[in-house]
Amino acid sequence: MRKVREEMFPQQNKNGHLYWGNCDTVALAQKYGTPLYVYDENLILKECQALKDDFLDKYPNTRVAYASKAFNTIAMLQLIKDAGLSLDVVSGGELYTAIAADFPAARIEFNGNNKSVAELEMAIDYGVGRIIVDSLQEVALIQQICQQLGKKAHIMFRITPEVDVKTHAFISTGQKDSKFGIPLEPAVLYPQIEKVFQAENLEFYGFHFHVGSQLSDNAAHLAATQVALNLMLEVKKRYNYQVKELNFGGGFGVCYTKEDIRQPYRYFLDPMMELTAAFCLENDLVRPEIVIEPGRSIVAEAGITLHTIGAIKELPGLRKYVSIDGGMTDNIRPGLYHAQYTGVVANKVDEKPTQKVTISGKACESTDLLIKDLPVPDVCAGDIFATFTTGAYGYSMASNYNKLPIPAVIFTKDGQAEVVVKRQTYAQMIQNEVKR
Ligand code: LLP
Repeated sequence: MRKVREEMFPQQNKNGHLYWGNCDTVALAQKYGTPLYVYDENLILKECQALKDDFLDKYPNTRVAYASKAFNTIAMLQLIKDAGLSLDVVSGGELYTAIAADFPAARIEFNGNNKSVAELEMAIDYGVGRIIVDSLQEVALIQQICQQLGKKAHIMFRITPEVDVKTHAFISTGQKDSKFGIPLEPAVLYPQIEKVFQAENLEFYGFHFHVGSQLSDNAAHLAATQVALNLMLEVKKRYNYQVKELNFGGGFGVCYTKEDIRQPYRYFLDPMMELTAAFCLENDLVRPEIVIEPGRSIVAEAGITLHTIGAIKELPGLRKYVSIDGGMTDNIRPGLYHAQYTGVVANKVDEKPTQKVTISGKACESTDLLIKDLPVPDVCAGDIFATFTTGAYGYSMASNYNKLPIPAVIFTKDGQAEVVVKRQTYAQMIQNEVKR
């Protein structure tokens, strides 16, 4: 399903201004300054509802754990908590934020390919619902910590499903040559599972995979589902143990530009659930609880970034650079993955394009180009530029390179705007530095 531009970016134009969450983005830029991340809360809630319609309400015994690496802030996690979803965290910092948001421990899943002792202690102490084991050293470590703290842990194994993934190599994780997951090699995998069975304070739940990110084709998800189902059957045969849970990861793609295809959740999930049901029936297995871990698809399209246009440099016959007051420090994705974006001049949305320009960032780095050859109307310093679909992996991957402060984050809803992350100050940037 290819979305048309208006569907992709459900913007309202009033007085030639871009509105987001029914708020005038030009007024937001004036009031809160730029760069500024702006989310429409209703668009996030719409995604949560789509997950309920296509998955949670359609199939019993299912969970959705929001992969918070896409955008992990207290306000966002409160929203996810209130929507009734579970949460995936991958570090002490993400977990700390979840605890600060009073996120119920039982609904938290802890992923990560190299969890530290301190992180595991924090997770086990808080009593997280699942620990997803990703390395051969981890089981013994978890067991030891559980013993020390007198706690129990619910264990899943992240496997490397060894499937081909059609996405950017940098965000593909399901292939055999990957740092993620436990290899499928029986001599490696089964002794680990046996260790969990033998440990008093560990309970084995099942298998987890995540094939990659920003996918619009379900082939890799389906191939990996088959791998996980085969493992479940093998565990039944070897140990007469019925796996309780399978986690199919995230990876559902979104629209950055009109070239992207956004598939509905059911496009991925219906065939995976059908395959699972048929396999269980055929092999006399109980269909386990099915969990998914979407990150990007819940928040990406709900977020935009506002920048102020500054320097404009024209190279006749070659290119026109239009510089903004942020760039790779608030959105590393174009520089890191050659990710494509689109945007508009927020105070001139009604004006016709007159030229093609390259929107460039302010960091001292040649790769700091946000959008190449974008048609825009006549622009000048002081205009506000809005980039669409920056809600996932924008704020969460922001950096202080060139000592640029991390921008503020605003949630908008039905015409109301609220600061959910304040802009970092210069003083905060150097607060941990020691003057000698
Ligand atoms: N579960 C696991 C175990 C993951 O590793 C990931 C993403 C997800 C879930 C969520 O995937 P999503 O639904 O967001 O595609 N920084 C990159 C994306 C890296 C994703 C890594 N893992 C980017 O900006 O494209």
